[in-house]
Amino acid sequence: MTVTGILLCAFFTTCVCASGVADVVLSCEFIEDSVGLRDNFARSPATLILREVFVGSLESLEALTPFVPPSNSDPRVIMFESKVSSFKIPNIDILLHADCNEREVMCEISRYAPHGLKERSESDHFLVSIDVAGGAFGTLLILRAVPQADDQTSRMNPELGLPLSQTGTMLTEVLFLVFSTVKSLSAPLRGAGLLNCGFRHQDMSPDEEVHIEWRQQHRGRGQIIITMATRLNDPEGGAMVRHSSKDSSMDGAQVVSEGNASVTLNNIQVTDEGAYICSVTIGPYHGQQVVNLQVVQAPSVSFSEEKLILKGNTAQTLRCHCRQYYPLDVQVEWLSQSPTDEEPAIFADQGSLSSHRKHGDGTYSLSSHLVVPPDVVPGTRITCRVSHVALDAPVSVSMLVEHL
Ligand SMILES: *[C@@H]1O[C@H](CO)[C@@H](O)[C@H](O)[C@H]1NC(C)=O
Repeated sequence: MTVTGILLCAFFTTCVCASGVADVVLSCEFIEDSVGLRDNFARSPATLILREVFVGSLESLEALTPFVPPSNSDPRVIMFESKVSSFKIPNIDILLHADCNEREVMCEISRYAPHGLKERSESDHFLVSIDVAGGAFGTLLILRAVPQADDQTSRMNPELGLPLSQTGTMLTEVLFLVFSTVKSLSAPLRGAGLLNCGFRHQDMSPDEEVHIEWRQQHRGRGQIIITMATRLNDPEGGAMVRHSSKDSSMDGAQVVSEGNASVTLNNIQVTDEGAYICSVTIGPYHGQQVVNLQVVQAPSVSFSEEKLILKGNTAQTLRCHCRQYYPLDVQVEWLSQSPTDEEPAIFADQGSLSSHRKHGDGTYSLSSHLVVPPDVVPGTRITCRVSHVALDAPVSVSMLVEHL
């Protein structure tokens, strides 16, 4: 599956019915293979109406009204309609709050060919990929068109050759979905991180096999982290988990009972950074989610000098060390505050930086050298302030200037 960079706005969300469900309407693109076009894909606008999305009780939604598809709509407009009330999907209510100004939602629909199924399946299965910008939610759904009763002499969608409901939508049911509620996470070096991935299914034979694979992809290299195989009717016994060398774990019982395929990585190293692909296969259906892991480690900041004593006309050097941080970017600032200053001010001279040193564990160190001129007033406080992505607020160390 190719992931394209097109972002569309989610458009409306409507209706909250009494039971904490809402209809979500997304503007999507329908993508078809098409020989002759430059990128071989034809894109056309499509609408996805997710009926009865479980969102819990959210007060602000009471004012909304149910979505009513336009009657007598143009049959060439592709409108997919799917009821999702039987699935409780964590965080899906994010789609309700997605809006054109704040969060963008990418939604793409294409045809799907279930593995090993023949008979019409190629023409009536669809794959929907939904991603909320910012990584708070992503899902992949496999839909199947619901056959319409013959007597309805229904209109057809000319492009898809499938019958339309009376309101002009294409009724589908969700057979399978894979989702992630944390598509990007940061974890501290040597700490642990949970790579989040879950799945839901419907109408699956209970002895169908579930196969889960987590693979890490980084700088063009891929490796399998953990795989697991079990049957849907096998609440714990038969789960077969195979690990790679990486310290990781998956709860086999949770996979079957909750559809939770999350994996915990322990003792995280810099080399564990990258994209992790959660692949779930049940019978003929297969879907995946990508979760990005970033490793962050805050610098430890200190001066190498214990005191700063100015003598006569000689300048003194102050060295501020930032040790063992990750990733590379770090910002060092020098400030000074004389006894008469109300607040510290940026030092005129910002010192000079050493080059980065890289350690065996992948972390970096750097130091900044400041030459303190002899005319600095005694009692002046000199501060080295360090900013880094792993720090919520900059870290400072400071020292009082003494004179001999
Ligand atoms: C899976 O379980 C863990 C706790 O064990 C939880 O934090 C996580 O949100 C669950 N993920 C899904 C997708 O259900």
